Amino acid sequence: MNILHASFECYPVAKVGGLADVVGALPKYQNNSGVNAMVIAPYYDNSFIKDSKRESIYKGEIKIGQVLYPYSIEKIVSPSLGFDIYLVYIKGLLDRPNVYNYEDDSERCIAFQLSVLDWVSSTDQTIDLVHCHDHHTGLIPFLMSHANQYNSLKNTPSVLTIHNAQYQGQLSYEKLHYLPLFDKEKIGLLDWGNCINPLASGIKCAWQVTTVSPSYMQELQQKANGLEKLLAHEKNKCVGILNGIDIEAWSPETDPMIIKNYKSKDVVSGRKENKKWLCDHFDLDINKPLFSFIGRLVGEKGADLLPEIITEYLSNHSDSNILILGSGNHEVEEQLQSLQKQFSGSYNSYIGYDEKLSHIIYAGTDFLLMPSRVEPCGLNQMYALRYGAIPIVRKTGGLKDTIIDIGDDGFGISHNNASVWDVCYSIKRGVNLYNDQKKYREIQKQILAIDHSWDRSANQYVTIYKSLI
Ligand code: ADP
Ligand code: GLC
Repeated sequence: MNILHASFECYPVAKVGGLADVVGALPKYQNNSGVNAMVIAPYYDNSFIKDSKRESIYKGEIKIGQVLYPYSIEKIVSPSLGFDIYLVYIKGLLDRPNVYNYEDDSERCIAFQLSVLDWVSSTDQTIDLVHCHDHHTGLIPFLMSHANQYNSLKNTPSVLTIHNAQYQGQLSYEKLHYLPLFDKEKIGLLDWGNCINPLASGIKCAWQVTTVSPSYMQELQQKANGLEKLLAHEKNKCVGILNGIDIEAWSPETDPMIIKNYKSKDVVSGRKENKKWLCDHFDLDINKPLFSFIGRLVGEKGADLLPEIITEYLSNHSDSNILILGSGNHEVEEQLQSLQKQFSGSYNSYIGYDEKLSHIIYAGTDFLLMPSRVEPCGLNQMYALRYGAIPIVRKTGGLKDTIIDIGDDGFGISHNNASVWDVCYSIKRGVNLYNDQKKYREIQKQILAIDHSWDRSANQYVTIYKSLI
């Protein structure tokens, strides 16, 4: 069974957030379940791609409106990622340093999707199913079923995974001519809210739709940035499958990015070295518990609450440290930076993206804060568990499905509202737990034993593939 994952992100080829981690790990685990899972992603202008050894395996041409774009398919030969990965190279359009946030993102998404389909319909290698991820690849199911030139793919099943319904990739009908000729009677399958909506179209046309946790699937039917009625209507082909994590790449025993590796039996001393590095580096107090946040500084993550949480908590308590790693909303970035002076010695932040630093934080922080308003799955809480840091989460989406509160015989701290008060209260609960080191260690032992690997969920996807092919 040959499965092709089509995605704009795939770690370590290109990462902005959790989508990359999922697409960079799921195929590897699926290959252990007896399928041949491969990935196709854009060729970006970054050092990982440039330093990799590649082989150009196909050359073709696509047309967007009146413009012809030659493209090539480059296969990464080394390093080996545990699955085959193909990159779509389009000079000037896709080979740029960043993944998103260009004015012509919709053209870039369409160019990628057309190249994928052009290649899949021409290659000798049979593709039994195309697995699309998020709106960037949401038009593929429609085009496979209804575009004249991909007629040979009509009976090939497609699956769409929604990692985040907030972003839908809408484009106006003025750009309809970017798409190849299709059965005009089917135009309604592209539409949602009087525009072309790639995510909505994917939901309508994919043979199966999945989201990244069961709770998020339920929540989407109530609140989905305008798609709730559509999701409620399509609910029979929708299922929530909890993400896993790559426990080989994310292992405190072998992680090359952290300061000191550790096993379960030397977790205390190992984590202390990592915390010491963080405290030295960020001028924090090693004797106090450390609460950290890692993530995109956007409303969904509750990032706008952080400046007030820091001010409120640290103005009234001198019992902890707070550390933030993230980038996003400029106003929030500035507020977080301006607080550094006021709370120096107990608060600090790094505004930007730093993969290595994120690993050291998981390995050294005592608690990980996730005050998310919306969290389709969330991987950070699972990385925290894997490294022995206790997550503090808002009960939503995947956070609700993965973290059980200590008060309910669980192993994390959770609250109901995305409010400053709720988060500060949870931080105080964290401090109390930290001060009871016997209890803290018991919980830590418990979380280190939790298995969040992809094994179980990878099989759930394989079961879906088998039912569709
Ligand atoms: P999302 O995909 O919504 O951003 P996830 O929890 O699924 O959230 O995944 C986030 C991923 O991105 C994790 O691997 C996390 O460590 C990483 N990450 C987020 N922000 C940063 C940052 N500023 N620096 C390094 N890694 C980050
Ligand atoms: C999205 C979601 C996040 C999820 C990730 C991977 O970016 O915001 O919650 O963990 O995709 O599925």
